Amino acid sequence: MPSLQTRARVHVTTISDRCELAPGVVLLGLHAPDLGKAARPGQFLMAIPPSGAAAAVALGIYEARADRASILFFVCGKRTSELSTLRVGDTLACSGPLGNGFDLSANPRDVAIVAGGAGIASALLPAEALIAAGARVRLYYGARTQALLVDAQRFADAGCELHAATDDGSAGRRGYITELLEQAQDRPDMVLACGPTPMLRAVADVARRFGIRAQLSLEETFACGVGGCWGCVVPLTAESAQAPNFPREDRGGSDVVFARVCKEGPVFWADELRW
Ligand SMILES: Cc1cc2nc3c(=O)[nH]c(=O)nc-3n(C[C@H](O)[C@H](O)[C@H](O)COP(=O)(O)OP(=O)(O)OC[C@H]3O[C@@H](n4cnc5c(N)ncnc54)[C@H](O)[C@@H]3O)c2cc1C
Ligand code: FES
Repeated sequence: MPSLQTRARVHVTTISDRCELAPGVVLLGLHAPDLGKAARPGQFLMAIPPSGAAAAVALGIYEARADRASILFFVCGKRTSELSTLRVGDTLACSGPLGNGFDLSANPRDVAIVAGGAGIASALLPAEALIAAGARVRLYYGARTQALLVDAQRFADAGCELHAATDDGSAGRRGYITELLEQAQDRPDMVLACGPTPMLRAVADVARRFGIRAQLSLEETFACGVGGCWGCVVPLTAESAQAPNFPREDRGGSDVVFARVCKEGPVFWADELRW
């Protein structure tokens, strides 16, 4: 994957709109002209909870237009709880766009996007970009229950074919979304996936069996989020274009190097990860 990094900067944004998509799932529109123009599919931002008492939190960039970007988050801990209290007109500081994002340069014609839970927040921009380029896009969307399949209609309206699975069977297939992907009669040429690690590992297995490549957006816990602390590393083949450039002797002759999810990622080719 070539370097897809863009220049990040700090933005003081204003909340332009707010919507609770489901209990505990919040969509915040941000008036952020520079961020909206610069963001690419699969990039993220670090949002600074307004009290200043908690560290910044990594969130995917859900939508990006000329003067508006948005974030979509599941309230699960201190920082997302704090962000959920923001109202229209409040300010939110964030840095971004960060990370590499998905590599769509091969111009794939038939793409499966697999999203689980909060991973849906990183799925809309690549879906829209692929559809605009004339590709067929199937969204494989998994959630615990029907109410948490948030904003699915938005993807259908954008032109995605929807396939859903829920843990409790309240919508779509009961079970894992990767089981539906595995049953696809006509195989896609590429898979993009964002969601919890067990789902990403299952996607990597299915893609390997299909003989196609998969790009995985990893959900790692970040400390600094900007490449400074090396607290978010994953093992990667040294052959990868994303591998940090350590001399072979400094890695004890190993063919594996550690890459920072926040800096070299968060998106990696599944067949280059050594996890
Ligand atoms: C690149 C990237 C993009 C991301 N994009 C999004 C996104 O768009 N939307 C989104 O919703 N999330 C996203 N995430 C995930 C999000 O950054 C994390 O969930 C983040 O930790 C939330 O911060 P928090 O302070 O609210 O929760 P935290 O306090 O950090 O808690 C995170 C998780 O740990 C659990 N937890 C917390 N405290 C405890 C405890 N004491 N014992 C056991 N479990 C506990 C919580 O239940 C929760 O599941 C992304 C992550 C990355 C790396
Ligand atoms: S979180 Fe510090 S280097 Fe990634």
